[in-house]
Amino acid sequence: MKVTVVGAGLVGATCADAIAHKDIVNEVILIDVKENLAEGKALDMWQMSPIDQFDTRVVGYTNDYSKTAGSDVVVLTAGVPRKPGMTRDDLISINAGIVKTCTENIMKYSPDTILIVVSNPLDVMTYCAYLTAGVDSSKVFGMAGILDTARYGAFLATELNCSPKDIQSILMGGHGPTMVPLPRYTTVGGIPVTELVDKEKLDAIVDRTKKGGTEIVNLLGTSAWYAPGVAAAQMVEAIVKDQKRIFPCCTWLQGQYGVNDIYLGVPVKLGKAGIEEVIELKLNKDEMALVHASAKAVREVMDVLDNMNAAK
Ligand code: 2OP
Repeated sequence: MKVTVVGAGLVGATCADAIAHKDIVNEVILIDVKENLAEGKALDMWQMSPIDQFDTRVVGYTNDYSKTAGSDVVVLTAGVPRKPGMTRDDLISINAGIVKTCTENIMKYSPDTILIVVSNPLDVMTYCAYLTAGVDSSKVFGMAGILDTARYGAFLATELNCSPKDIQSILMGGHGPTMVPLPRYTTVGGIPVTELVDKEKLDAIVDRTKKGGTEIVNLLGTSAWYAPGVAAAQMVEAIVKDQKRIFPCCTWLQGQYGVNDIYLGVPVKLGKAGIEEVIELKLNKDEMALVHASAKAVREVMDVLDNMNAAK
């Protein structure tokens, strides 16, 4: 099995590192436009292998996509990160160009690959990669739900002073302030979270989750990388091991949840074919309204991309 990570920045390198440590594929190729960045980081990672005892060969290249040929899975992290004061949508014009070029290069050498998009603005960059790749949407999808759900789970574990391992939850919608954490689908060791955390505290945790990325940008002056990197690596693992795990992923919807032709975070089954099933929850009226509001916000940014493409 061969996995390529495009972009050797903080998210890409963290993701490649996490995949190597899982020891689940033969080869991780790290690729970046910046001269020697991928080579250097990949070499450093490979030098961990005798210490941390993994076999995965990690090799880096500067923009040479021929070395990515035959990848089973590609994680696309290329793009500029957010700076303080920028929304993810501000990034659209810069990152759409980067995502398009990278996707063309990826598909040229790995036409059968599964492509996981991590670049921001996430939902729209996934759409951009899908338009460029020209393959079935089950093979092009985005990472965000695992990250946002993890933030929600981490905040709950802090509040409850319990193990984050015991928190199970679902979060839907776009990767931005309209995302929809779902307390009704959140349990702690099998106990509904609503029995353990009062409404006011739960509302505050939901609100903090929605702003989870921005909180890190404000602290660090750039966007997060540890949790985004390992979230993408977890998706790679589900695919290469054909685990059929249920995760929220940014997925092309065709009528599910009453929306059409849009990339949005929904629960799916992830296995060796990519998205093997879109799971339709029986949302109540309020939850559905929040998901639709999030879809509307994502649609507005998708329209920006469509208009940019039409103007060319
Ligand atoms: C985040 O939410 C990088 O968008 C990413 O931190």
